Amino acid sequence: MYELLKVLHITSVIVWMGSMILAAALPPAGVSEKSVAAVRLIMNIGISVAWIAGLYLAQQGGWFSDGWLHAKLAIATLLAGLHGVIVSRLRGRAYASGEGFMWVSLPWLMMVTVFAASYLVIVKPF
Ligand code: HEM
Repeated sequence: MYELLKVLHITSVIVWMGSMILAAALPPAGVSEKSVAAVRLIMNIGISVAWIAGLYLAQQGGWFSDGWLHAKLAIATLLAGLHGVIVSRLRGRAYASGEGFMWVSLPWLMMVTVFAASYLVIVKPF
């Protein structure tokens, strides 16, 4: 059961991160309303299953007192915040429609956070 849960967790993390990094690379309001709805649906399925399965894994594995999970939860919370910002950008909301360096580098920054989260959970350095 634990391994099956981990499979579900990793699958949903791949869906969440993949769709979010792609959405962050799209120009603001650059896609049709229909496509925005499809991308949002995929992102929302990814984030909800990743969190539910992840927290259940942490409870089943007794990991809540481990430093690596605390650091990983901080990263996952940051990514959850970014999730909302990226959906706003897709919908062309003014506050999230910049073209500056920060927006252009966002997908790359997210790849670094995915590496960091994966390192923490696989190596468990602390
Ligand atoms: C959203 C909140 C999250 C929670 C509460 C969470 C929690 C967990 C827990 C408890 C495990 C099992 C650890 C083990 O059995 O060794 C796990 C596995 C894993 N998580 Fe998460 N996680 C979350 C988000 C993420 C994110 C955002 C990523 C990557 C971007 C990620 C990547 C992974 C990977 C790759 C594994 C498998 C590790 C292994 O098999 O050794 N998780 N997660």
